[in-house]
Amino acid sequence: MSPTTPAALYPQHLAELQARAAEALKRGDFDHLVVPSGSLHYQFFDDRDYPYAVNPQFKAWLPLTRAPGSWLVITPGHRPKLLFMQPHDYWHVVPAAPSGYWVEHFDIVTIRTPEDAARHLPKDAARCAILGEPQGAVGDYIPGNPVPVVDYLEYHRAFKTPYEIAMMREASRIGARAHRAAERAFRAGASEFGIHLAYCQAAGQDANDLPYGNIICLNEHAAVLHYTDRDRLPPTPVRSFLIDAGASFDGYACDITRTYSADAGDDFQAMVDAVDAAQLKMCDAVRAGFDYKQLHLDAHLALAGILKDFGVIKVGAEDALASGVSSAFFPHGIGHGIGLQVHDVAGFAASDSGGTISKPEGHPYLRLTRVLEPGMVVTIEPGLYFIDMLLDELKQKGLADAVDWNRVDAFKPYGGIRIEDDVACTEAAPINLTREAFAGA
Ligand code: GLY
Ligand code: MN
Ligand code: MN
Repeated sequence: MSPTTPAALYPQHLAELQARAAEALKRGDFDHLVVPSGSLHYQFFDDRDYPYAVNPQFKAWLPLTRAPGSWLVITPGHRPKLLFMQPHDYWHVVPAAPSGYWVEHFDIVTIRTPEDAARHLPKDAARCAILGEPQGAVGDYIPGNPVPVVDYLEYHRAFKTPYEIAMMREASRIGARAHRAAERAFRAGASEFGIHLAYCQAAGQDANDLPYGNIICLNEHAAVLHYTDRDRLPPTPVRSFLIDAGASFDGYACDITRTYSADAGDDFQAMVDAVDAAQLKMCDAVRAGFDYKQLHLDAHLALAGILKDFGVIKVGAEDALASGVSSAFFPHGIGHGIGLQVHDVAGFAASDSGGTISKPEGHPYLRLTRVLEPGMVVTIEPGLYFIDMLLDELKQKGLADAVDWNRVDAFKPYGGIRIEDDVACTEAAPINLTREAFAGA
């Protein structure tokens, strides 16, 4: 049987990253890739830190997400080196000595201060491609983020190694378990805040551990795409629940959305079921060679068809897409790449040496325009919303006749619908990491 655990898959992942680093350095004419893990920052006029967020270029190499002040040195032909920051500090918990399946692959040097790092970094800073935030500079080692190096690494980061897929499976498993707990809390009458707490408890993750702030919406709040307020009391009556919430596993993210009606027999639940069925078909289109832009446009047609079936719009799907009517109800992109970052990098990259693939005219919020290839993991997140601002704009554009406003009024108290899964493109059929996780949750 081929290996499936992150530990068993890690050596191949590391070998792939070393090959990518060697090519990236050649493109930028550097000898070393140097990656600080990132540092803590004080809030303005205060002595409290912002939550620490590890440099994604760092956590790509090893599952260390809470080691500020550390540095990686990658030199082709040599073992990777980790300068591991363990400050002398009795105010805070100091990161424990590295342990786990990845440790044997690194030469590890413990450092106590930023100046220690400078002593162990390659002698000539000018020969180092340093990837990090500007505040992370130590002496001559100033992150310059050279474009040819970053372009190459970010373009290829879209192609997940089997290790990365295994990590995302773990993140999805945690997310699905927490989504189940959130649904139970909703059915039991909890507030948005209460559902959030139930979610975090089941995930075993604090708000700062999650890959993005939970979006937990009851009723009309589901019409706010990134609603992150959390009412402390439930509304009366409770009609609908939209939850867009992820989970992290050693630096990898999942991004999952589900929508429920409080009444399984009502029209809103029927519309949720229709979006869910359409979403599954879209997930099945995550195949090598398929253009993600086309997937987005096809989603508009499918969603406009649902709006027509439910009597919300009076025009056909093609008309709705061409006139912008479908965009008033589905005003975001069909999804994005995902991995180390919930919105993964290089969504528009035309190649590993630069260039941009533009978005379709009239679709400014699409975050991924590349053709799908094996190894990519993308979200598929169609939605339908009843948003006053966008519906008013339709009226102002003279498109009021395309809509049955009584039907809009009937659905508006439910806010909206989004169904979101994370789907891996392979040489053959796609793997829906989210559905797989729910099936096992
Ligand atoms: N959770 C943000 C998004 O779905 O893109
Ligand atoms: Mn998403
Ligand atoms: Mn989401």
